[in-house]
Amino acid sequence: MYTSLLLLFLVLPMITGEAELRHGFYSKSCPKAESTVREVMKRAMIREIRSAASVMRLQFHDCFVDGCDASLLLDNTPTMRGEKRSLSNINSLRNYHVIDEIKMALEDICPLTVSCADIIIMASRDAVAMTGGPDWEVKLGRLDSLTASEADSDAIMPSPRFNASALIDLFAKFNLTVKDMVALSGSHSIGKGRCFSIMHRLYNQSGDGKPDPAIEPAFRQELYKLCPPNVDLNLTVNLDATPTVFDNQYFKDLVTGRGYLNSDQTLHTNPKTRGWVVKFSKDQDSFFKAFVKGMIKMGDIQSGRPGEVRRKCRVVNKRPGSISRSFLPY
Ligand code: HEM
Ligand SMILES: *[C@@H]1O[C@H](CO)[C@@H](O)[C@H](O)[C@H]1NC(C)=O
Ligand SMILES: *[C@@H]1O[C@H](CO)[C@@H](O)[C@H](O)[C@H]1NC(C)=O
Ligand SMILES: *[C@@H]1O[C@H](CO)[C@@H](O)[C@H](O)[C@H]1NC(C)=O
Ligand SMILES: *[C@@H]1O[C@H](CO)[C@@H](O)[C@H](O)[C@H]1NC(C)=O
Repeated sequence: MYTSLLLLFLVLPMITGEAELRHGFYSKSCPKAESTVREVMKRAMIREIRSAASVMRLQFHDCFVDGCDASLLLDNTPTMRGEKRSLSNINSLRNYHVIDEIKMALEDICPLTVSCADIIIMASRDAVAMTGGPDWEVKLGRLDSLTASEADSDAIMPSPRFNASALIDLFAKFNLTVKDMVALSGSHSIGKGRCFSIMHRLYNQSGDGKPDPAIEPAFRQELYKLCPPNVDLNLTVNLDATPTVFDNQYFKDLVTGRGYLNSDQTLHTNPKTRGWVVKFSKDQDSFFKAFVKGMIKMGDIQSGRPGEVRRKCRVVNKRPGSISRSFLPY
């Protein structure tokens, strides 16, 4: 009797297939969901301004790998290598604890209601809005994945060494246009990157021991000082000249050869993307509009796999086969 009730309780929240995303998804089930996310984000940013950048980056790394399903947030288990230690994520993605903090606040007011996948989407939007960028309505109703895959992340996430053509091809796989891709790269208007990510640009771009010729000479001298050959590769450098403000300075920097990553600067070098870079450098409003459009399209990516609303973002909910005694609700 107990067991069958328990089974029902455990199985119900697991739903199969693609979720219907819409505005105001939690307006009845958790009316304070969006304001709570923004409150916690505000606190996180007061503690550390960079947390805006670090949290908004999570949307990209979650959505590109098997859809926006918080697969990114699952910790490794003895039987599953998740995404946190993939090539692009290890020693690089940060502030998972901010998502945990948001989830705890939401579990307090509406238990088992708001998915971790939706938290990432809301928090990313808030990060942009609170650093001076555009604000917009997000569609909600995503489910959290039951698995994650380090191999999938390794296979999909782009290297900072990528050039514009490789980025165009990658984004096209998600139906994201050249304009979407350039605008979304404008997220590098906030935050920092490690010396690790540009050492090859500074010291051996084409395998000839020489720096990337696209780096403006005075900027190259600055970068040599910030990331000398034997530097601690974890040291970080601003991604644009105004790293705490979401604005179009990033594109202005690309036009003057002051892009940090190779994947950034190549957007200006390549004629297929240069037009958008120049446009966005002169017209912040058009950048903001294109960015919002891109974030919404990226937020629509779904895998169609079964999901659930997790209790904790780092682990899947306990299944009938794996009930531990301590979990039984007496
Ligand atoms: C176009 C392909 C992209 C590439 C190759 C790329 C690569 C990178 C790299 C290498 C870093 C620095 C990481 C480190 O050195 O540890 C970084 C930082 C960042 N990326 Fe991207 N990225 C891309 C697109 C995006 C997109 C689409 C978003 C979000 C919409 C995004 C958001 C960010 C943010 C906010 C940071 C700074 C994070 C922080 O300060 O913690 N990136 N990216
Ligand atoms: C871009 O990178 C790809 C794959 O790494 C390479 O084949 C191609 O030649 C590069 N294109 C340009 C324009 O540099
Ligand atoms: C991209 O669009 C095509 C045609 O509309 C569709 O069949 C495909 O599923 C879409 N792919 C993604 C990843 O959304
Ligand atoms: C530069 O790259 C080439 C080819 O990858 C490699 O053979 C060479 O040793 C590198 N030189 C330096 C100084 O790292
Ligand atoms: C960078 O930091 C991580 C821990 O955050 C550490 O495991 C790694 O060894 C560091 N790498 C270098 C090159 O110092």
